[in-house]
Amino acid sequence: MPDPLTGLELRSTISGDARLTLTLEPVTLTPPGPDEVVVRVEASPINPSDLGLLLGPADVATLQPGGTADRPTLTAAIPQARMAAMKARLDQSLPVGNEAAGTVVQAGDNVAALLGRKVGMIGGAMYAQYRKIAARDCIPLPEGASAADGASMFVNPLTALAFVETLRAEGHKALVHTAAASNLGQMLNRICLADGVPLVNIVRSEAQAAILREIGAKYIVDSSAGDFREKLTDAIAETGATLAFDAIGGGKLANAILHAMEAAASRNATEYSRYGSSTFKQVYIYGMLDTGPTELDRGYGFAWGVSGFLLTPFLIKLGMEGNMRLRARVAAELTTTFASHYTATISLADVLDPAVVAAYAKKATGAKYLIDPSR
Ligand SMILES: NC(=O)c1ccc[n+]([C@@H]2O[C@H](COP(=O)([O-])OP(=O)(O)OC[C@H]3O[C@@H](n4cnc5c(N)ncnc54)[C@H](OP(=O)(O)O)[C@@H]3O)[C@@H](O)[C@H]2O)c1
Repeated sequence: MPDPLTGLELRSTISGDARLTLTLEPVTLTPPGPDEVVVRVEASPINPSDLGLLLGPADVATLQPGGTADRPTLTAAIPQARMAAMKARLDQSLPVGNEAAGTVVQAGDNVAALLGRKVGMIGGAMYAQYRKIAARDCIPLPEGASAADGASMFVNPLTALAFVETLRAEGHKALVHTAAASNLGQMLNRICLADGVPLVNIVRSEAQAAILREIGAKYIVDSSAGDFREKLTDAIAETGATLAFDAIGGGKLANAILHAMEAAASRNATEYSRYGSSTFKQVYIYGMLDTGPTELDRGYGFAWGVSGFLLTPFLIKLGMEGNMRLRARVAAELTTTFASHYTATISLADVLDPAVVAAYAKKATGAKYLIDPSR
């Protein structure tokens, strides 16, 4: 039986006095069970969904460092108006980090072959020096792949693949995607190009359009341009897109997409219907980059839907065989279709540095941070 391992784990706590506190806590892991492994975490991305748990609605202008160089702490104020939504997590010291990669340092009897292998893994609590996890939640990395290559092999790759699976399952011809130059958006472009699925990319700057052109994207529309709505309608009419995945959520963009889909459908209409076109238009909101309300004016008839989309329930519904198929594709195309790029690699202590927080909390294009807790 291997010795228990002790390592630091990042924790996020929101207290009843409207304070966020980040700490690094020593955690001792009992040896792995027969089907479990202990992984030394070497690379874990900071994704927008991690920030939701890590910082919650904290005001990053109020960050206050504390503690010591080895064991720093960080506190910040939470606006009172946002506290009601925090009720379910009050005073709980929560581990953070959805996915990571690292080296298996202990393995149970049934999975001993994984000892010493580099693996990617999903399951939360990854911002830690060691993570004990069921072997079924790990994927061995291909020969030669680094932990950084495998750090983001679940959340964004599987979500991008899920969009195309949804398109096929629900009988659509083409896709619209927002915040389209994101890490996930770049993967989606490579998938759609390979699979022959027309993709309309909505970005908000010329710099983002240039990133996607470089990948080979054909349809790119800039929401900051004066002729955005016309260009969006043209691209939707040309591709026949009736399905959109919207990472922004708040504001009027989902509404603009539904209007453009309706306008494109009406271009071919032979007679007027006061109920709008019969072409069904679906927007899935899968992110909250804008946390404000979603504004819908319903000016596109009655054949439309707006709903939420989350990866985990999608994968549960897809079943084991489908999951294995998607995972196998990610592993085979890890350093091509599903490659991620990082601005900087930081230590666990750096995650609590106010200057670093200000940078990673921006969620800016091409500015993703990677944590290496073994530093
Ligand atoms: N539902 C799910 O299961 C699921 C799974 C995976 C990912 N996601 C979501 O997918 C999205 C992309 O993730 P990622 O890791 O690929 O992100 P990322 O690489 O960090 O990129 C974020 C992108 O969002 C843009 N952005 C930020 N705030 C914005 C705003 N208010 N309006 C418009 N654009 C904005 C940024 O552009 P600028 O440079 O212009 O700021 C950047 O291009 C996130 O919203 C994430 O939560 C959801």
